[in-house]
Amino acid sequence: MSPRLLFWIPAVLRLLLTFGGAGLIGLFFGPVAGLAVGLLAMTVAIVVQLNYLYLLAGWLDDPGKVRLPDGWGAWTDIFSRLYRLRRDDERNRTELTEWLARFRQAMSLLPDGVVIMDDVLFMEWCNPAAERHLGLRDDRDKGMRVTNLIRNPDFIDYIILGRYDQPLTLSLRERKLIVQIIPFENRRQILVTHDATETERIEMMRRDFIANASHELRTPLTVINGFLEIASGQPNLDAVTRASHLKLMTEQGRRMQNLVEDMLTLTRLESIDYPLRLERVDMANLLDQILHEARALSGGKHTITLVNDAPDINGSADELRSAFGNLASNAVRYTPEGGALTLAWQMGRGGPQFSVQDTGIGIRAEHLSRLTERFYRVDKSRSRETQGTGLGLAIVKHVLLRHDAILAIDSQPEQGSTFIVRFPMTALAEAMAA
Ligand SMILES: Nc1ncnc2c1ncn2[C@@H]1O[C@H](COP(=O)(O)OP(=O)(O)OP(=O)(O)O)[C@@H](O)[C@H]1O
Ligand SMILES: [Mg+2]
Repeated sequence: MSPRLLFWIPAVLRLLLTFGGAGLIGLFFGPVAGLAVGLLAMTVAIVVQLNYLYLLAGWLDDPGKVRLPDGWGAWTDIFSRLYRLRRDDERNRTELTEWLARFRQAMSLLPDGVVIMDDVLFMEWCNPAAERHLGLRDDRDKGMRVTNLIRNPDFIDYIILGRYDQPLTLSLRERKLIVQIIPFENRRQILVTHDATETERIEMMRRDFIANASHELRTPLTVINGFLEIASGQPNLDAVTRASHLKLMTEQGRRMQNLVEDMLTLTRLESIDYPLRLERVDMANLLDQILHEARALSGGKHTITLVNDAPDINGSADELRSAFGNLASNAVRYTPEGGALTLAWQMGRGGPQFSVQDTGIGIRAEHLSRLTERFYRVDKSRSRETQGTGLGLAIVKHVLLRHDAILAIDSQPEQGSTFIVRFPMTALAEAMAA
């Protein structure tokens, strides 16, 4: 049966019952009594309807607090439908609130910044990444125009030109940001920001590395090519000159070889496919080798002493030999004749440590933080004399990183330097075995 019939049939029956009852009373007790009963019945019906309307109005004012009665007649159906509507509405609202909370949480975890703006660039909402990138505050800046909040000429130009299909690279608050505006929903726009500072830094390091490496290789190559041209242009060169040219060419060739080997070592140390192989390192043996190499390099021009006063550690013997050897060879090469060097393996406060102390030329404080950068040399001309490539300490740094060790440098110009490698207590071979 249709809902309309369902509504009307009981209503008409109820009316017929009322008027029929009034008619019957009129028949038995006279028309005045019938009219009075009819009027009374009508009045009661109107009062009941008005009461329900009153209750409905009260419920509409505050549906959360006020309860609807079960109702009578057609009202029962109306009230139960209203209840259902309200329950659906509450469920939808809860779902929407949960969804919004999830959306906000996802947005707050995004590494990229998102700012939602209206069509005239007034900010409506932004996530924490956008706050960090652009210096905005969601609670404070809501309703402000983004061009008033991000006062950067490039950004303003980008807005004026309106070429939003292209992203814009922006230098803002010491960061490199890639920003783009994406229009959506006709009357809204999203501003997306991506922090490219780290990518830019790595890209710059890569460019610097290639530039430095090519520069370092070009010098010996130029020397070798020059001598080769002389040799082919003047086949009758005297034996002494030829021997001296060959000697210089061999030196430059060796220099290139060292450079390439160092670069390969660095690449290998950085590679994740080359994990550290831990073994018990025989420190007495390793220190002897370092001392022997340092003495050979010095050729008796320095006094070199060794102190071995700490137990063995776990690590890669080859890598540690290369790192310690680098520090010792630096001390020899940057200490004038007659100087003194001390190589020491001792227990420090936080763990075992290897130190190389020299009485050499020393390093000025402003260079200290940059020494482990690739190709960084304090005095390029002097380093060239000593055949240095500037990769030694970069290799040391990487080896130490793989061993959880740190490098500390203490140096005074003209007085000497101390390079200390500090290992954690856990590096001790016995500690690992325990
Ligand atoms: N003991 C030291 N005394 C003074 N200066 C030093 C000492 N050790 C390193 N340096 C300075 O630090 C720079 C970087 O050292 P690093 O070992 O990285 O390069 P290098 O010795 O020039 O070349 P390589 O080690 O690749 O042959 C050196 O060029 C030198 O200027
Ligand atoms: Mg070196």
